[in-house]
Amino acid sequence: MTERRTDDSVSGDEHVPVLLQEVLTHLVRRAPTPEDPGGESGIFVDATFGRGGHSRKLLERLSPQGQLLGLDRDPEALAEARRLAEHDPRFSFCQARFSELQDVLRDQRIDGVRGLLMDVGVSSPQLDRPERGFSFAAQGPLDMRMNPDEGLSAAEWLNQADEAEIAQVLWMYGEERQSRRIARAIVAARPLVTTLELADLVVQALPRPRGPQRKHPATRTFQAVRIFVNEESQELDKGLQQGFRSLAVGGRLAVISFHSLEDRKVKHAFRQFSQPPKMPRRLPVQHLDQEVQGRLIGGPMKPSLAELNTNPRSRSATLRVIEKVR
Ligand SMILES: C[S@@+](CC[C@H](N)C(=O)[O-])C[C@H]1O[C@@H](n2cnc3c(N)ncnc32)[C@H](O)[C@@H]1O
Repeated sequence: MTERRTDDSVSGDEHVPVLLQEVLTHLVRRAPTPEDPGGESGIFVDATFGRGGHSRKLLERLSPQGQLLGLDRDPEALAEARRLAEHDPRFSFCQARFSELQDVLRDQRIDGVRGLLMDVGVSSPQLDRPERGFSFAAQGPLDMRMNPDEGLSAAEWLNQADEAEIAQVLWMYGEERQSRRIARAIVAARPLVTTLELADLVVQALPRPRGPQRKHPATRTFQAVRIFVNEESQELDKGLQQGFRSLAVGGRLAVISFHSLEDRKVKHAFRQFSQPPKMPRRLPVQHLDQEVQGRLIGGPMKPSLAELNTNPRSRSATLRVIEKVR
């Protein structure tokens, strides 16, 4: 399992949008051209606004009647979203989670989304700002919450959880083979307060590597704890279901994931939307009323070499797109 690392060279408050051309091409099909300045006029949703990298480019492709709603659970996305909304009346923003998508759309009386983007995971500003506590490479409070006003911080959870529960999370969300050993070390060292305390503890707990290492030894632990405290797995499941349900016929859902656990979920959900349910052979009826609802748009898409060269953080990204057909 690979993921965005925390030591690549983008820094500060910047976030370079990943697979941008691929997203634009597949989500906004009627782009304005000098001969046809129209552009799409439906309702689009960017469910992972971040710093608005994708949103700004999506807006360039919409007609004056088009609308874009941005969502993000992180309160820090709000400032950038406000600036964009002041600039462009076609854009609005709501601080919300994927699992609240349908409620938000209902409140805003939005029916039938033309294109919805989910660029899941963490943004560069979240990773790069030590005070957010996501990075094993910089000293900061051990927090890792995308919305610091919600749920337990990483430190609060690690300082109270059972050793077995910690080991299970490290195994399940980090595929960390030494999960038990690390969990034991965490419990023995509690209370943990900072990111570097956790990172150093993992280094000490693991056997010395034989050869040169590509990844920091705490990569998997940090990923697992982050996924757990933000309930990312459950959020993605709900976001995929609610996102697909909210599309108009002909509307498309585009999802960018950053590690194999996420991509597997996207693949399975898209398969469920695009294939007829399997019937047991012995049943006489082989057709269900419920017909296929989606059509896959191409296969999984990966960043080009040119993108990899300019944005190394894109290396583990995979884009999948599906269209609602009924
Ligand atoms: C990879 S960044 C998106 C970057 C954005 N596409 C851009 O170009 O600036 C992912 C964003 O999604 C948000 N996010 C992740 N999970 C979420 C969820 N369940 N609900 C709402 N927002 C979420 C994060 O807070 C983060 O800002």
